[in-house]
Amino acid sequence: MASNDEKKGGGGFFSTIASSLSNLGSAMHKSVNGLLGYEGLEVIDPEGGTEDAEEEAQRGRWKQEDRDGYWKMMQKYIGSDVTSMVTLPVLIFEPMTMIQKMAELMEYSHLLDLADECEDPYMRLVYASSWAISVYYAYQRTWKPFNPILGETYEMVNHGGITFIAEQVSHHPPMSAGHAENEHFTYDVTSKLKTKFLGNSVDVYPVGRTRVTLKRAGVVLDLVPPPTKVNNLIFGRTWVDSPGEMIMTNLTTGDKVVLYFQPCGWFGAGRYEVDGYVYNAAEEPKILMTGKWNQSMSYQPCDLEGEPLSGTELKEVWRVAAVPENDKFQYTYFAHKINSFDTAPKKLLASDSRLRPDRYALEKGDLSKAGAEKSSLEERQRAEKRNREAKGHQFTPRWFDLSGEVTPTPWGELEVYQYNGKYTEHRASIDAADIINEVDVKSIEFNPWQYGNLAAE
Ligand SMILES: *[C@@H]1O[C@H](CO)[C@@H](O)[C@H](O)[C@H]1NC(C)=O
Ligand SMILES: *[C@@H]1O[C@H](CO)[C@@H](O)[C@H](O)[C@H]1NC(C)=O
Repeated sequence: MASNDEKKGGGGFFSTIASSLSNLGSAMHKSVNGLLGYEGLEVIDPEGGTEDAEEEAQRGRWKQEDRDGYWKMMQKYIGSDVTSMVTLPVLIFEPMTMIQKMAELMEYSHLLDLADECEDPYMRLVYASSWAISVYYAYQRTWKPFNPILGETYEMVNHGGITFIAEQVSHHPPMSAGHAENEHFTYDVTSKLKTKFLGNSVDVYPVGRTRVTLKRAGVVLDLVPPPTKVNNLIFGRTWVDSPGEMIMTNLTTGDKVVLYFQPCGWFGAGRYEVDGYVYNAAEEPKILMTGKWNQSMSYQPCDLEGEPLSGTELKEVWRVAAVPENDKFQYTYFAHKINSFDTAPKKLLASDSRLRPDRYALEKGDLSKAGAEKSSLEERQRAEKRNREAKGHQFTPRWFDLSGEVTPTPWGELEVYQYNGKYTEHRASIDAADIINEVDVKSIEFNPWQYGNLAAE
């Protein structure tokens, strides 16, 4: 809570919220120390308070016998990075891969179009940062996405005039690169998620570099998102929170937005709250922003103390879209659209996530097929690696190049991959050829591989 108090130390609009919350921070963690054999088990009920944590511990998605076995098995991983662990059962997976999940950030891309069209430089940051917040609603799903296979890609068209391409560029450590572009903006990301398994929860650090370029004004924005915590992984009902700061900076001038995602307090207080300011290069607040990441964001011009300017009013800038009711995987409509072949361009690459047999089987509800297909893909990936090493080959991504730049992040260094422009040429040549899509996309065999079918050799 210290950084929270510092940030809001000068009083101002959010001081009441901040001080009422700082008392709650220590009360919210309730450990189930009474349960024999479950040392270090921490169960946190987001609605908190009245119920016994022990009662909460009995809830969740696992059958008791599976849960106990799993808890014992996972003990040895406490404190370690579980990003690329292959032993996780499909039961906890959703039918989507990490690079598809990356594309979910494009749902409210119209906010970036508005940022680009906007004349007021500070309103630009209001739109752009609201875009960055808008994906957290979808990201509160408690299912684990599949790790992409090395060389796997995801393409998306039919949304906001965007062309989107992402590729898995490294297997160890797992790294993905992505590029999206329309007439208003380009979006470039290199992502290397790092995790820390804590027993009944996992911390997810968004090690990455995100750049948004607004084309008209030539504004280049850098985004540092807050870390995420997945609570009650094995005991209790799983829930997701992203407490901490989100910072978006104009790299030319140093103007920035700093938004604070409140940690969930006791009785759910502060859950989903996001508050902060747009600052000019002299670090003076210009516009206040407030809202809930699960619902809507609003803004209002403010004075140097951060108080709303008289004669102005709080205006909404973003509101979450309606979602399907009782969706099996808590998907938004946009998440469904991402998995759909309707968003796939003509001549979809055979390395596309949509074509993964394990993902597709899970989507169809066939868990045992999904599990078998997943193991078989992982086995093939290992065979490829052995083959590559034996031949002294390197893996070279197709659509991104290692830039040689290493950038610091709050969670460690990152080797930056840069979009090489080849996908834009590739798409343009297909569009120019005026191909009529006669093949049934679903019949394309998933093929991210560098070599032929080794299993058959
Ligand atoms: C950001 O940088 C551009 C120049 O690259 C400048 O024109 C713009 O006003 C700056 N500020 C904001 C808040 O966009
Ligand atoms: C967001 O959370 C609040 C509780 O703080 C809840 O009342 C509201 O319905 C949620 N919004 C959505 C869209 O789920």
